[in-house]
Amino acid sequence: MGHHIVTLIEGDGIGPEISRATTRVIEATGVEIDWEPIKAGINAIPDYGSPVPEVLLESIRRNKVALKGPLTTFIAKGFSSANVGLRKALDLYANLRPVHSIDGIKSRYENVDLIIVRENTEDLYAGLEHIITPGVSQSIKVITTHASTRIGQFAFEYARKTGRKRVTAVHKANIMKLSDGMFLESIAAVAQNYPEIKYDDVIVDALCMKLVMDPNQFDILVLSNLYGDIVSDLAAGLVGGLGVVPGANIGLDCAVFEAVHGSAPDIAGKGIANPSALLFSGVLMLRHLKEDAAADRIMNSIKKVFREGTHTTRDLGGKATTEEFADEVIRHL
Ligand code: NAI
Repeated sequence: MGHHIVTLIEGDGIGPEISRATTRVIEATGVEIDWEPIKAGINAIPDYGSPVPEVLLESIRRNKVALKGPLTTFIAKGFSSANVGLRKALDLYANLRPVHSIDGIKSRYENVDLIIVRENTEDLYAGLEHIITPGVSQSIKVITTHASTRIGQFAFEYARKTGRKRVTAVHKANIMKLSDGMFLESIAAVAQNYPEIKYDDVIVDALCMKLVMDPNQFDILVLSNLYGDIVSDLAAGLVGGLGVVPGANIGLDCAVFEAVHGSAPDIAGKGIANPSALLFSGVLMLRHLKEDAAADRIMNSIKKVFREGTHTTRDLGGKATTEEFADEVIRHL
């Protein structure tokens, strides 16, 4: 408790709208947070000439915690992703995405309670691409024992800390015998140190089918970067979509909390985006800051608003604007 300083990256697209709503709700709980707003992505280029400026990294290194709105990355052109750059620069090696069913949000399943742990620093996101000769391109998939072991340890430590019973490693080692094989062997070696937690593995395509048919058969999933990216969006779809799933990027020193979704250029500036995912990420952040009472109040309040159903945003079938939703959450605090 006490007083916190948190780096705030509003982001672009719907970022500023959902960030404003989120910080308003968090402040309404009375927690003492000083936000340190810093630009990133396209907004940072005019001032700093870089999508991940040094002032941003310094701010997060100093404060240890950041709340981040989405940043646009252009497809097949332009600077490499600021999101990926930030994760690399701060070595935020673990991407944690809790996927839970939420009362009042219509979705295909009830009682989903999945934890997705995604490796955040390597794999095909190493960004090593070349044109070998006209018409032939190559992207290099990098998997190391170091990063695989580290993410395995994160998953098992998380299981131990939260009393979960099972960790499943996800791979395609039948085809990528060397790279995915190394990932799998590393996680299996870590599992030996956690005899009380059940360990198994599943091939990624089979996992997708199984998740869609019955998501409750899994507990914690640990995946390399690309599979983690895809499967976590699939999992978001099981509980109501990208608008309601939070995420955290965690390293040894710093943690950056952000929604799973992107900058939603199709609805940016209209004031209709759903701030829930960023707000849930803010709740994860409050727990990280040991502000559990405020986190609980926000969760209970959001649940009430969803259950009432009169103030939800358009993506959830309602009519409320971003600000009207936030006002209603604040009213229920
Ligand atoms: P997106 O997540 O921005 O949008 C996908 C669909 O979901 C759109 O129809 C959008 O309107 C809707 N949507 C997303 N968030 C919503 C919200 N909070 N409320 C209501 N509807 C919402 O994915 P897209 O279009 O593939 O990416 C747009 C940009 O965002 C790209 O430049 C991409 O690189 C970037 N991006 C950034 C991320 C980050 O900053 N962590 C993560 C994912 C994408």
